[in-house]
Amino acid sequence: MNSKILFVKRNGDFHYPICFESDFSALAKALKEEGLSGRRICLVADDTVASLYLDAVFRAMAPVCQDIFSFTFPAGEASKNLDTVQDLYTVLIEHGMDRQGLLAALGGGVTGDLTGFAAATYLRGIDFIQIPTTLLAQVDSSVGGKTGVDFRGYKNMAGAFWQPRLVYMNLSVLSTLSEEQFACGMGEVLKTGLICDIAFFQGVCARHQAVQERDPLVMAELIRRCCEIKAGIVERDPKEKGERALLNLGHTIGHAIEKLKNFELLHGQCVALGLIASAEISRLRGYLTDQEVGEIRQALESFRLPVSVSGLDEETVLQATRKDKKMKDGQIRFILMKKPGSSFIDPTVTDRELRQGIRAVLRA
Ligand SMILES: NC(=O)c1ccc[n+]([C@@H]2O[C@H](COP(=O)([O-])OP(=O)(O)OC[C@H]3O[C@@H](n4cnc5c(N)ncnc54)[C@H](O)[C@@H]3O)[C@@H](O)[C@H]2O)c1
Ligand SMILES: [Zn+2]
Repeated sequence: MNSKILFVKRNGDFHYPICFESDFSALAKALKEEGLSGRRICLVADDTVASLYLDAVFRAMAPVCQDIFSFTFPAGEASKNLDTVQDLYTVLIEHGMDRQGLLAALGGGVTGDLTGFAAATYLRGIDFIQIPTTLLAQVDSSVGGKTGVDFRGYKNMAGAFWQPRLVYMNLSVLSTLSEEQFACGMGEVLKTGLICDIAFFQGVCARHQAVQERDPLVMAELIRRCCEIKAGIVERDPKEKGERALLNLGHTIGHAIEKLKNFELLHGQCVALGLIASAEISRLRGYLTDQEVGEIRQALESFRLPVSVSGLDEETVLQATRKDKKMKDGQIRFILMKKPGSSFIDPTVTDRELRQGIRAVLRA
Protein backbone atom coordinates (compact mmCIF):
# COMPACT_ATOMS: atom_id res chain seq x y z
CA MET A 1 0.00 0.00 0.00
CA ASN A 2 1.26 3.47 -0.80
CA SER A 3 1.34 5.74 2.15
CA LYS A 4 -1.02 8.65 1.79
CA ILE A 5 -1.44 11.75 3.82
CA LEU A 6 -4.48 13.87 4.41
CA PHE A 7 -4.31 17.15 6.30
CA VAL A 8 -6.74 18.53 8.81
CA LYS A 9 -6.20 22.26 8.84
CA ARG A 10 -7.73 25.46 10.01
CA ASN A 11 -6.41 29.02 9.81
CA GLY A 12 -3.41 28.34 11.99
CA ASP A 13 -5.58 27.17 14.95
CA PHE A 14 -4.65 23.64 14.13
CA HIS A 15 -3.03 21.79 11.32
CA TYR A 16 -2.07 18.13 11.37
CA PRO A 17 -1.53 15.23 9.03
CA ILE A 18 -3.35 11.91 9.01
CA CYS A 19 -0.92 9.25 7.77
CA PHE A 20 -2.22 6.02 6.28
CA GLU A 21 0.50 3.35 6.48
CA SER A 22 0.76 -0.42 6.54
CA ASP A 23 3.24 -0.65 9.45
CA PHE A 24 4.83 1.55 12.10
CA SER A 25 8.09 2.15 10.22
CA ALA A 26 7.27 5.70 9.09
CA LEU A 27 6.28 6.88 12.57
CA ALA A 28 9.69 8.35 13.43
CA LYS A 29 9.74 10.31 10.19
CA ALA A 30 6.22 11.58 10.76
CA LEU A 31 7.12 12.78 14.27
CA LYS A 32 10.18 14.52 12.92
CA GLU A 33 8.25 16.23 10.16
CA GLU A 34 5.78 17.61 12.68
CA GLY A 35 8.57 19.00 14.84
CA LEU A 36 7.87 16.41 17.53
CA SER A 37 11.28 14.76 17.78
CA GLY A 38 13.47 14.99 20.87
CA ARG A 39 10.47 14.86 23.20
CA ARG A 40 9.72 12.73 26.22
CA ILE A 41 6.85 10.47 25.26
CA CYS A 42 4.28 8.69 27.39
CA LEU A 43 2.71 5.93 25.34
CA VAL A 44 -0.82 5.18 26.56
CA ALA A 45 -2.52 1.90 25.70
CA ASP A 46 -5.05 -0.51 27.16
CA ASP A 47 -3.69 -3.90 28.24
CA THR A 48 -4.94 -5.73 25.13
CA VAL A 49 -3.39 -3.30 22.67
CA ALA A 50 -0.24 -3.02 24.78
CA SER A 51 0.39 -6.76 24.54
CA LEU A 52 -0.04 -6.64 20.76
CA TYR A 53 1.65 -3.41 19.66
CA LEU A 54 3.40 -1.53 22.47
CA ASP A 55 6.87 -2.97 21.76
CA ALA A 56 6.64 -2.27 18.03
CA VAL A 57 5.62 1.34 18.63
CA PHE A 58 8.33 1.77 21.27
CA ARG A 59 10.94 0.59 18.78
CA ALA A 60 9.56 2.75 15.98
CA MET A 61 9.62 5.92 18.09
CA ALA A 62 12.81 5.38 20.03
CA PRO A 63 15.19 6.83 17.41
CA VAL A 64 13.56 10.27 17.51
CA CYS A 65 12.58 10.80 21.12
CA GLN A 66 14.41 11.69 24.28
CA ASP A 67 12.85 8.83 26.22
CA ILE A 68 9.65 6.81 26.30
CA PHE A 69 7.65 5.33 29.13
CA SER A 70 4.20 3.81 29.07
CA PHE A 71 0.92 3.81 30.93
CA THR A 72 -1.50 0.93 30.53
CA PHE A 73 -5.01 0.37 31.86
CA PRO A 74 -7.66 -2.38 31.62
CA ALA A 75 -9.32 -2.51 28.18
CA GLY A 76 -12.92 -1.38 27.78
CA GLU A 77 -15.34 1.52 28.13
CA ALA A 78 -15.41 1.01 31.92
CA SER A 79 -11.91 2.52 32.02
CA LYS A 80 -12.93 5.72 30.24
CA ASN A 81 -13.32 7.73 33.42
CA LEU A 82 -11.63 10.25 35.70
CA ASP A 83 -10.01 7.49 37.81
CA THR A 84 -7.95 6.32 34.84
CA VAL A 85 -7.09 9.92 33.96
CA GLN A 86 -5.91 10.45 37.55
CA ASP A 87 -3.76 7.32 37.37
CA LEU A 88 -2.26 8.68 34.16
CA TYR A 89 -1.59 12.12 35.75
CA THR A 90 0.17 10.29 38.60
CA VAL A 91 2.47 8.42 36.22
CA LEU A 92 3.21 11.66 34.34
CA ILE A 93 4.07 13.48 37.57
CA GLU A 94 6.20 10.58 38.82
CA HIS A 95 8.16 10.70 35.57
CA GLY A 96 8.58 14.46 35.84
CA MET A 97 6.73 15.07 32.58
CA ASP A 98 6.82 18.79 31.75
CA ARG A 99 5.06 20.95 29.15
CA GLN A 100 7.36 19.67 26.41
CA GLY A 101 6.09 16.14 27.02
CA LEU A 102 4.06 14.31 24.42
CA LEU A 103 1.29 11.79 25.00
CA ALA A 104 0.70 9.11 22.39
CA ALA A 105 -2.66 7.34 22.36
CA LEU A 106 -2.16 3.85 20.99
CA GLY A 107 -5.52 2.10 20.77
CA GLY A 108 -9.20 2.52 20.15
CA GLY A 109 -11.58 5.35 20.92
CA VAL A 110 -11.40 4.75 24.66
CA THR A 111 -7.63 5.26 24.71
CA GLY A 112 -7.80 8.21 22.31
CA ASP A 113 -10.58 9.98 24.22
CA LEU A 114 -9.02 9.62 27.65
CA THR A 115 -5.45 10.32 26.53
CA GLY A 116 -6.60 13.41 24.64
CA PHE A 117 -8.46 14.59 27.73
CA ALA A 118 -5.39 14.06 29.91
CA ALA A 119 -3.29 15.95 27.33
CA ALA A 120 -5.81 18.82 27.27
CA THR A 121 -5.72 19.21 31.04
CA TYR A 122 -2.26 18.14 32.29
CA LEU A 123 -0.26 21.32 33.01
CA ARG A 124 -3.07 23.22 31.23
CA GLY A 125 -2.44 21.31 28.04
CA ILE A 126 0.37 19.39 26.38
CA ASP A 127 0.75 17.91 22.91
CA PHE A 128 -0.60 14.51 21.99
CA ILE A 129 -0.76 12.25 18.97
CA GLN A 130 -3.21 9.55 17.95
CA ILE A 131 -2.18 6.07 16.80
CA PRO A 132 -5.64 4.52 16.33
CA THR A 133 -5.89 0.73 16.26
CA THR A 134 -9.61 0.01 15.95
CA LEU A 135 -11.64 0.59 12.81
CA LEU A 136 -13.87 2.91 14.82
CA ALA A 137 -10.93 5.02 15.93
CA GLN A 138 -9.44 5.07 12.42
CA VAL A 139 -12.64 6.19 10.71
CA ASP A 140 -13.91 8.48 13.42
CA SER A 141 -12.64 9.11 16.93
CA SER A 142 -8.94 9.78 16.26
CA VAL A 143 -9.72 12.73 14.00
CA GLY A 144 -11.33 15.96 15.10
CA GLY A 145 -10.12 16.67 18.62
CA LYS A 146 -13.12 15.66 20.72
CA THR A 147 -11.68 14.22 23.90
CA GLY A 148 -13.31 13.22 27.14
CA VAL A 149 -14.40 10.63 29.66
CA ASP A 150 -17.64 9.20 30.99
CA PHE A 151 -18.81 10.33 34.41
CA ARG A 152 -20.95 8.13 36.70
CA GLY A 153 -22.37 6.27 33.74
CA TYR A 154 -23.07 9.38 31.65
CA LYS A 155 -21.30 9.29 28.31
CA ASN A 156 -18.55 11.80 27.59
CA MET A 157 -19.75 14.14 30.35
CA ALA A 158 -16.35 15.71 31.02
CA GLY A 159 -14.28 16.64 28.02
CA ALA A 160 -12.42 19.17 25.96
CA PHE A 161 -11.76 20.05 22.36
CA TRP A 162 -8.06 19.33 21.98
CA GLN A 163 -6.62 18.57 18.56
CA PRO A 164 -3.84 16.00 18.12
CA ARG A 165 -0.57 17.05 16.49
CA LEU A 166 -0.48 13.93 14.31
CA VAL A 167 -2.72 10.97 13.50
CA TYR A 168 -0.74 7.93 12.41
CA MET A 169 -2.61 4.86 11.21
CA ASN A 170 -1.05 1.49 10.66
CA LEU A 171 -3.92 -0.14 8.81
CA SER A 172 -2.48 -3.65 9.19
CA VAL A 173 -3.47 -3.68 12.89
CA LEU A 174 -7.05 -4.23 11.79
CA SER A 175 -6.14 -7.89 11.21
CA THR A 176 -6.19 -8.61 14.96
CA LEU A 177 -9.49 -6.88 15.66
CA SER A 178 -12.41 -9.11 16.73
CA GLU A 179 -15.40 -9.42 14.41
CA GLU A 180 -17.55 -7.59 16.91
CA GLN A 181 -15.16 -4.64 17.15
CA PHE A 182 -14.79 -4.53 13.39
CA ALA A 183 -18.59 -4.38 13.07
CA CYS A 184 -18.66 -1.44 15.51
CA GLY A 185 -16.35 0.49 13.24
CA MET A 186 -18.66 -0.29 10.33
CA GLY A 187 -21.49 1.35 12.31
CA GLU A 188 -19.61 4.67 12.15
CA VAL A 189 -18.66 4.06 8.49
CA LEU A 190 -22.29 3.57 7.46
CA LYS A 191 -23.25 6.57 9.62
CA THR A 192 -20.73 8.71 7.72
CA GLY A 193 -22.24 7.72 4.38
CA LEU A 194 -25.77 8.39 5.62
CA ILE A 195 -24.78 11.87 6.77
CA CYS A 196 -23.53 13.19 3.47
CA ASP A 197 -22.40 10.66 0.87
CA ILE A 198 -24.89 8.11 -0.39
CA ALA A 199 -22.55 6.97 -3.19
CA PHE A 200 -19.99 6.05 -0.53
CA PHE A 201 -22.65 4.21 1.53
CA GLN A 202 -23.75 2.26 -1.53
CA GLY A 203 -20.16 1.56 -2.57
CA VAL A 204 -19.39 0.10 0.85
CA CYS A 205 -22.50 -2.10 0.69
CA ALA A 206 -21.64 -3.20 -2.86
CA ARG A 207 -18.18 -4.29 -1.71
CA HIS A 208 -19.57 -6.10 1.28
CA GLN A 209 -17.47 -9.22 0.86
CA ALA A 210 -14.17 -7.38 0.37
CA VAL A 211 -14.93 -5.22 3.40
CA GLN A 212 -15.81 -8.23 5.56
CA GLU A 213 -12.56 -9.88 4.43
CA ARG A 214 -10.80 -6.64 5.41
CA ASP A 215 -9.19 -6.37 1.99
CA PRO A 216 -6.33 -3.90 2.63
CA LEU A 217 -6.88 -1.77 -0.45
CA VAL A 218 -10.63 -1.57 -0.01
CA MET A 219 -10.21 -0.76 3.69
CA ALA A 220 -7.59 1.89 2.97
CA GLU A 221 -9.95 3.64 0.59
CA LEU A 222 -12.89 3.36 2.95
CA ILE A 223 -10.96 4.71 5.96
CA ARG A 224 -9.51 7.53 3.94
CA ARG A 225 -12.93 8.62 2.69
CA CYS A 226 -14.35 8.66 6.23
CA CYS A 227 -11.39 10.75 7.42
CA GLU A 228 -11.78 13.10 4.48
CA ILE A 229 -15.45 13.70 5.30
CA LYS A 230 -14.81 14.09 9.02
CA ALA A 231 -11.80 16.37 8.50
CA GLY A 232 -13.87 18.61 6.21
CA ILE A 233 -16.64 18.94 8.78
CA VAL A 234 -14.19 19.54 11.64
CA GLU A 235 -12.30 22.19 9.67
CA ARG A 236 -15.49 24.11 9.03
CA ASP A 237 -16.94 23.70 12.53
CA PRO A 238 -14.32 22.56 15.06
CA LYS A 239 -16.36 23.29 18.19
CA GLU A 240 -19.74 22.01 17.09
CA LYS A 241 -21.50 25.31 16.73
CA GLY A 242 -23.47 23.88 13.83
CA GLU A 243 -22.58 21.44 11.08
CA ARG A 244 -20.39 19.20 13.27
CA ALA A 245 -23.50 18.06 15.13
CA LEU A 246 -24.34 16.03 12.00
CA LEU A 247 -21.68 13.55 13.10
CA ASN A 248 -24.04 12.69 15.96
CA LEU A 249 -26.46 10.97 13.57
CA GLY A 250 -27.66 7.89 15.48
CA HIS A 251 -25.92 9.00 18.66
CA THR A 252 -28.69 10.67 20.66
CA ILE A 253 -30.83 7.57 21.19
CA GLY A 254 -27.66 5.46 20.74
CA HIS A 255 -25.98 7.05 23.77
CA ALA A 256 -29.14 6.62 25.86
CA ILE A 257 -29.18 2.90 25.08
CA GLU A 258 -25.43 2.65 25.72
CA LYS A 259 -25.89 4.08 29.20
CA LEU A 260 -29.02 2.09 30.05
CA LYS A 261 -27.36 -1.15 28.99
CA ASN A 262 -24.49 -0.29 31.35
CA PHE A 263 -22.09 -0.33 28.43
CA GLU A 264 -22.81 -4.05 27.84
CA LEU A 265 -23.50 -3.13 24.22
CA LEU A 266 -20.56 -1.57 22.40
CA HIS A 267 -20.61 2.01 21.15
CA GLY A 268 -20.84 1.11 17.45
CA GLN A 269 -23.69 -1.31 18.17
CA CYS A 270 -25.63 1.44 19.95
CA VAL A 271 -24.96 3.79 17.03
CA ALA A 272 -26.53 1.18 14.72
CA LEU A 273 -29.65 1.12 16.91
CA GLY A 274 -29.69 4.91 16.95
CA LEU A 275 -29.48 4.99 13.16
CA ILE A 276 -32.57 2.76 12.91
CA ALA A 277 -34.45 5.04 15.33
CA SER A 278 -33.43 8.14 13.38
CA ALA A 279 -34.40 6.49 10.08
CA GLU A 280 -37.81 5.62 11.52
CA ILE A 281 -38.46 9.20 12.66
CA SER A 282 -37.32 10.41 9.23
CA ARG A 283 -39.76 7.97 7.64
CA LEU A 284 -42.62 9.23 9.80
CA ARG A 285 -41.82 12.75 8.66
CA GLY A 286 -42.11 11.59 5.06
CA TYR A 287 -38.41 12.07 4.29
CA LEU A 288 -37.50 8.39 3.85
CA THR A 289 -39.50 5.69 2.14
CA ASP A 290 -40.22 2.26 3.68
CA GLN A 291 -37.79 0.85 1.16
CA GLU A 292 -34.99 3.24 2.15
CA VAL A 293 -35.44 2.42 5.83
CA GLY A 294 -35.37 -1.27 4.87
CA GLU A 295 -32.12 -0.78 2.98
CA ILE A 296 -30.48 0.97 5.94
CA ARG A 297 -31.58 -1.83 8.24
CA GLN A 298 -30.34 -4.45 5.81
CA ALA A 299 -26.95 -2.74 5.46
CA LEU A 300 -26.46 -2.63 9.23
CA GLU A 301 -27.49 -6.28 9.60
CA SER A 302 -25.24 -7.37 6.76
CA PHE A 303 -22.27 -5.90 8.66
CA ARG A 304 -23.34 -7.80 11.79
CA LEU A 305 -24.71 -4.87 13.68
CA PRO A 306 -27.82 -5.15 15.88
CA VAL A 307 -31.07 -3.57 14.69
CA SER A 308 -33.06 -4.23 17.86
CA VAL A 309 -32.44 -4.48 21.58
CA SER A 310 -34.23 -6.29 24.41
CA GLY A 311 -34.62 -5.56 28.11
CA LEU A 312 -35.44 -1.86 27.83
CA ASP A 313 -38.72 0.01 27.95
CA GLU A 314 -39.80 2.98 25.90
CA GLU A 315 -40.25 5.44 28.77
CA THR A 316 -36.81 4.78 30.28
CA VAL A 317 -35.08 5.21 26.92
CA LEU A 318 -37.04 8.42 26.28
CA GLN A 319 -36.03 9.89 29.66
CA ALA A 320 -32.37 8.94 29.10
CA THR A 321 -32.49 10.44 25.60
CA ARG A 322 -33.87 13.69 26.98
CA LYS A 323 -30.83 13.93 29.28
CA ASP A 324 -28.58 14.14 26.22
CA LYS A 325 -25.99 16.85 26.63
CA LYS A 326 -26.65 18.20 23.16
CA MET A 327 -29.80 19.93 24.33
CA LYS A 328 -30.31 23.57 23.57
CA ASP A 329 -33.05 25.50 25.38
CA GLY A 330 -34.57 22.24 26.59
CA GLN A 331 -34.82 20.88 23.07
CA ILE A 332 -32.72 18.04 21.67
CA ARG A 333 -30.81 18.88 18.50
CA PHE A 334 -31.74 15.63 16.79
CA ILE A 335 -30.20 14.52 13.50
CA LEU A 336 -32.63 13.31 10.87
CA MET A 337 -32.21 12.22 7.26
CA LYS A 338 -33.88 14.27 4.56
CA LYS A 339 -32.92 11.38 2.34
CA PRO A 340 -30.21 8.72 2.69
CA GLY A 341 -26.89 10.59 2.45
CA SER A 342 -28.37 13.95 3.39
CA SER A 343 -28.76 14.61 7.10
CA PHE A 344 -29.74 17.77 8.93
CA ILE A 345 -30.11 19.06 12.46
CA ASP A 346 -33.70 19.24 13.65
CA PRO A 347 -34.54 20.88 16.97
CA THR A 348 -38.26 20.17 16.64
CA VAL A 349 -38.43 16.40 17.19
CA THR A 350 -41.24 15.77 19.68
CA ASP A 351 -41.42 13.21 22.49
CA ARG A 352 -44.07 11.42 20.47
CA GLU A 353 -41.68 11.08 17.54
CA LEU A 354 -38.84 10.03 19.83
CA ARG A 355 -41.07 7.31 21.28
CA GLN A 356 -41.84 6.01 17.80
CA GLY A 357 -38.16 5.98 16.92
CA ILE A 358 -37.32 4.17 20.15
CA ARG A 359 -40.14 1.67 19.61
CA ALA A 360 -38.63 0.76 16.24
CA VAL A 361 -35.59 -0.78 18.00
CA LEU A 362 -37.13 -2.26 21.15
CA ARG A 363 -37.63 -6.02 21.24
CA ALA A 364 -39.79 -7.67 23.90
N1 LIG B 1 -13.80 11.44 20.13
C1 LIG B 1 -14.64 11.15 19.18
O1 LIG B 1 -14.86 11.92 18.25
C2 LIG B 1 -15.33 9.82 19.21
C3 LIG B 1 -16.03 9.36 18.09
C4 LIG B 1 -16.59 8.09 18.12
C5 LIG B 1 -16.48 7.32 19.27
N2 LIG B 1 -15.81 7.79 20.34
C6 LIG B 1 -15.62 6.96 21.54
O2 LIG B 1 -14.82 5.86 21.20
C7 LIG B 1 -15.08 4.79 22.12
C8 LIG B 1 -15.20 3.50 21.36
O3 LIG B 1 -14.01 3.25 20.68
P1 LIG B 1 -13.54 1.78 20.31
O4 LIG B 1 -14.69 1.03 19.75
O5 LIG B 1 -12.31 1.90 19.52
O6 LIG B 1 -13.29 1.14 21.75
P2 LIG B 1 -12.00 0.66 22.53
O7 LIG B 1 -10.95 1.68 22.55
O8 LIG B 1 -12.48 0.13 23.84
O9 LIG B 1 -11.47 -0.58 21.67
C9 LIG B 1 -12.30 -1.71 21.55
C10 LIG B 1 -11.57 -2.99 21.97
O10 LIG B 1 -10.69 -3.38 20.93
C11 LIG B 1 -9.41 -3.70 21.44
N3 LIG B 1 -8.45 -3.38 20.38
C12 LIG B 1 -8.08 -2.14 19.96
N4 LIG B 1 -7.30 -2.24 18.88
C13 LIG B 1 -7.14 -3.56 18.63
C14 LIG B 1 -6.47 -4.30 17.62
N5 LIG B 1 -5.83 -3.68 16.61
N6 LIG B 1 -6.49 -5.63 17.68
C15 LIG B 1 -7.19 -6.27 18.67
N7 LIG B 1 -7.88 -5.63 19.61
C16 LIG B 1 -7.86 -4.28 19.59
C17 LIG B 1 -9.29 -2.87 22.68
O11 LIG B 1 -8.39 -3.44 23.59
C18 LIG B 1 -10.73 -2.89 23.22
O12 LIG B 1 -10.94 -4.05 23.99
C19 LIG B 1 -16.34 5.18 22.87
O13 LIG B 1 -15.99 5.56 24.17
C20 LIG B 1 -16.88 6.36 22.09
O14 LIG B 1 -17.60 7.25 22.91
C21 LIG B 1 -15.23 9.01 20.33
ZN1 LIG C 1 -19.71 7.37 17.66
